[in-house]
Amino acid sequence: MIDLLAAARRAAEAAYVPYSHFRVGAAVLAGGAVFSGCNVENASYGLTICAERNAIFAAVAAGHPRITAIALSCVDAAADAPPGSLMPCGACRQVMAEFGPPDLPVTIDRVGTMPLDALLPNAFRLT
Ligand code: THU
Repeated sequence: MIDLLAAARRAAEAAYVPYSHFRVGAAVLAGGAVFSGCNVENASYGLTICAERNAIFAAVAAGHPRITAIALSCVDAAADAPPGSLMPCGACRQVMAEFGPPDLPVTIDRVGTMPLDALLPNAFRLT
């Protein structure tokens, strides 16, 4: 059994976060392989990309546009941080919906596993 959450935590170690100091890692299962990503920030803040999207786009770029599971870990969220600080952002939820089914299992470190449609009900889809 592939430990996607462990892969997500490991991916966070490479995060480039000189501005927020908030490392995030993600790992995706696609085509039977694991693809991971971390958040990469930029001095022009809006150019920052999240860990989840980096992981998903790595899978797509490798020829695996159908994702079957995803895990993410906000490793720098404090123990007493608001629960929202552990959750995937809205943009990443929409990107998950592009490449994953409504019942895509999303594993969130320190929260649990839930289907994508619990995180993004009635997602916008054209396919
Ligand atoms: N971040 C992610 O990587 N994923 C999310 O779902 C939420 C936010 C990153 C973006 C930025 O580098 C840092 O966390 C603080 O917002």
